[in-house]
Amino acid sequence: MATIIDGKKISKSVRDEIRETTLRMKNERGIVPGLAVVLVGDDPASKIYVRGKKNACDEVGFLSKEFKLPGDTSEAELLDIIDGLNRDSEIHGFLVQLPVPKHIRVDAIIEAIDPKKDVDGFHPYNVGRLFSGNPYHRSCTPAGILELLDRYGIEIEGKEAVIVGRSILVGKPLALMLLERNATVTLCHTRTRNLSEVTKRAEILVAAAGNAEMIKADMVKDGAVVIDVGTNRLENGKLLGDVAFSEVSERVSYITPVPGGVGPMTIAMLLNNTLNASRI
Ligand code: GUN
Repeated sequence: MATIIDGKKISKSVRDEIRETTLRMKNERGIVPGLAVVLVGDDPASKIYVRGKKNACDEVGFLSKEFKLPGDTSEAELLDIIDGLNRDSEIHGFLVQLPVPKHIRVDAIIEAIDPKKDVDGFHPYNVGRLFSGNPYHRSCTPAGILELLDRYGIEIEGKEAVIVGRSILVGKPLALMLLERNATVTLCHTRTRNLSEVTKRAEILVAAAGNAEMIKADMVKDGAVVIDVGTNRLENGKLLGDVAFSEVSERVSYITPVPGGVGPMTIAMLLNNTLNASRI
């Protein structure tokens, strides 16, 4: 039976450490890290995420600012707000919650953010800098996965790592980050032939395809470490990962649950990026 990687517990430890560092910085240097979140429109899931980010800021003692803009906000108006946040000395990091309404170009928005304040790690400067290993900020979900592996003492160097899913938010940046840590990385996608032959080679298998329970027990190597990034919401409201947890957990050494695995790490890493931004 596998060890279940407890993302909630690790996220709490990371946030506790950030709270302690924040208090010390406040007392010794008078600096309070500040995070702003911009929400355009009233997508219900986005509202929940934004509230979570605000609560997390309060918990660790950060300053937080929220900008809730109507769904018909123009791109130019949003760019003005971004310009203001780029200049706001109280704000060290900020993000525009995605998705934005269709009349707004996502690329134009992300590229307008000062890369030093881009705590999502989505700006092309930071994405490009991942190639050379020195971005200002690394994308939060992949960074959270590495944090989980490190805190469970799971060696990455020299390991055969297979990622299923090549999204710009998870698969691609994670491939670079695992490579940076000297894993041998294979990035699989919808056109990969003989997927299960590739996934069976993995000592570290990351499922980030957005396809409920697609990774079955006969697709994993005995004793593998399995990281499930899937968040597939069923019609009945139940949340399913990309991994068929009950059968896969019988074969592997470590596995993340959904929920309570990778998910809670994303906000912890956003706070960590903001803390780092206040020290740039
Ligand atoms: N929407 C869902 N996840 C995210 C995220 O990590 N950052 C932003 N900006 N929007 C999101």
